[in-house]
Amino acid sequence: MASPRAAVILAAGQGTRMKSALPKPLHKVGGKAMLDWSIDLARAAGVERVIVIHGPQGAEVAAAAQARGCETALQDKALGTAHAVGCAKQKLAGYSGELIVLYADTPLIQTDTIINVFKALEGGAGVAVLGFEAAEPGGYGRLIVNENNELQRIVEAADASADEKAVRLVNSGVLAADSALLFRLIGAVKNDNAKGEYYLTDVVALARAEGEKAVVVQGDEAEMLGVNDRADLARAEAAFQARKREEILRNGATMTAPETVFFSHDTKVSSGVTFEPFTVMLEGVFIGANAHIRSFSHLEGATIEAGAVIGPYARLRPGAEIGPGARVGNFVEVKKARLGEGAKANHLSYIGDAEVGPGANIGAGTITCNYDGFDKHVTVIGAGAFIGSNTALVAPVTVGAGAMTGSGATITHDVPDDALAVARAPQVNKDGWAKKFRALKAAKKTAKNNKTKE
Ligand code: UD1
Ligand code: MG
Repeated sequence: MASPRAAVILAAGQGTRMKSALPKPLHKVGGKAMLDWSIDLARAAGVERVIVIHGPQGAEVAAAAQARGCETALQDKALGTAHAVGCAKQKLAGYSGELIVLYADTPLIQTDTIINVFKALEGGAGVAVLGFEAAEPGGYGRLIVNENNELQRIVEAADASADEKAVRLVNSGVLAADSALLFRLIGAVKNDNAKGEYYLTDVVALARAEGEKAVVVQGDEAEMLGVNDRADLARAEAAFQARKREEILRNGATMTAPETVFFSHDTKVSSGVTFEPFTVMLEGVFIGANAHIRSFSHLEGATIEAGAVIGPYARLRPGAEIGPGARVGNFVEVKKARLGEGAKANHLSYIGDAEVGPGANIGAGTITCNYDGFDKHVTVIGAGAFIGSNTALVAPVTVGAGAMTGSGATITHDVPDDALAVARAPQVNKDGWAKKFRALKAAKKTAKNNKTKE
């Protein structure tokens, strides 16, 4: 039987370079906090226990971790990565199994990559380090391997000789070992180095000295991007978007300009969907088969069923449910409302807190007046109803199945099935009135002009 797996997620750094009141691990990529990416990654790789290490300013981080069912431990001073992992020792007293160290600022690492690191332990390695060939090794720790490709030690950039600096195989920061071994090695780490920190990377040489094997599991640089500032955050977002688009395209969606279509971590897209350029899907969007999302539409928390057409210029807010084949056109906002099969709201409307029956037609400029300043009220529109242009539906109100409202109506009472509701002042035509009005005005203007010339 495979041994148990636990993870320590390091999130205690100050993240000063983010220049942000929000702690770095809570900044989002693809609409999901970087901390959550790390927690989900650990769990997807079969980790049962997750311990998040936070700093003294990290109360928000700890609360977010606990909300996700993680344990937390405080590192009261940032004395280095080995010290940070050591802060999980008490929590893991009595735990026996594999332990992996992850960071809360590397949101792009994939599950299979982490599973490969665990596999290396199961293949007999005492310590396994996730490494990669860096285009620019810069500030990364260098992985020094022997002729058999066994990892000898890790040298931090600040401590590296010129020869060592030339090494392009570098440390991602992810490291796994048997839990008891790792805590024992951490106990022996010293801080006599350029930064005066307790480096987690020192456990490699210490393990070798004990006769343990250390290995590098090589990953793809594209997954390893670490976020230090908001320029990095933007790069991570771009990488996430590129990956998500690729996945959605391969699953059978069409995009003519994929670089302008934006998804969230949880966007679900069925096959045959078309995204026109410049469309945005925030969290909680599901799009059914063959639906069509037209340009400049903005969707959040919305379910779009098969064959529906959204936009151009539509806004779907949380709780919007657009039924099969329904249509939401330009400058239409839908919030917490269901449009039944084949219903249409094609122009300039607000549909909030509403239930619109199948086949109903909502005319241009229709507004559900759902809010009285205190409470929200529901509008019900029956199947096949026809709402005339510029109708104000003052909720709570029901328009029956097959009923009609005359344009410009302000509907404050329920409308029975198949009735017509007209609610506006009757029209009066005054013959010749406009002509007389113009003549009067023109005469007055002439008189005034003549007076000023005198
Ligand atoms: C670390 C690695 C380096 C690797 C690089 C990858 C060490 C000594 N070096 O360097 O080999 O190439 O990551 O990005 O491990 N943290 C704490 N408490 C601390 C110090 C750090 O929680 O006392 C956290 C930080 O919040 C961060 C992570 O640990 O999430 C890494 O710390 P950082 O200072 O960025 O390490 P690097 O110098 O980048
Ligand atoms: Mg770093």
